[in-house]
Amino acid sequence: MKRNEFLKSIGTGAAFILTTGCLGGCSKGEDIPFIAPNGSNLPSNTVLFTIDLSSEEADNLLKEGGFIIQDDIVIAKSLSGAYVAATVICTHESRKEVTFQKNEFLCTAHGARFDQSGNGLNDFGKKGLKIYQTLLNENVLTILT
Ligand code: FES
Repeated sequence: MKRNEFLKSIGTGAAFILTTGCLGGCSKGEDIPFIAPNGSNLPSNTVLFTIDLSSEEADNLLKEGGFIIQDDIVIAKSLSGAYVAATVICTHESRKEVTFQKNEFLCTAHGARFDQSGNGLNDFGKKGLKIYQTLLNENVLTILT
């Protein structure tokens, strides 16, 4: 079983039953060892992918206001230090230009603005924005549906 298939099949809670070493070192598509979850109290969110915050690719997530884009998702570190994530696909005209600026999501196409909960902050952003859940466990940031 591939890692991403496994994580999608078990949900968030069980994902953290995995050994820390695996979470820190695995990347997409790798085979992983695991301890079978007992299936109780599993949240309904599905793990989309994880980010190793100690990796070079995640450098922008170490500073407040920084962001990266992975798999059409903007992942950012807010000015308060919380990790937030949203789709890059804007609800105004479906352009993939959503970024993170001044502590909010901003589409650079026409200027749609969204708060960290996905609420539109101007007319271009009035349809809101899909937000993803984030979970930080040591140096591993998990993005969930
Ligand atoms: S497509 Fe994003 S503001 Fe127009």
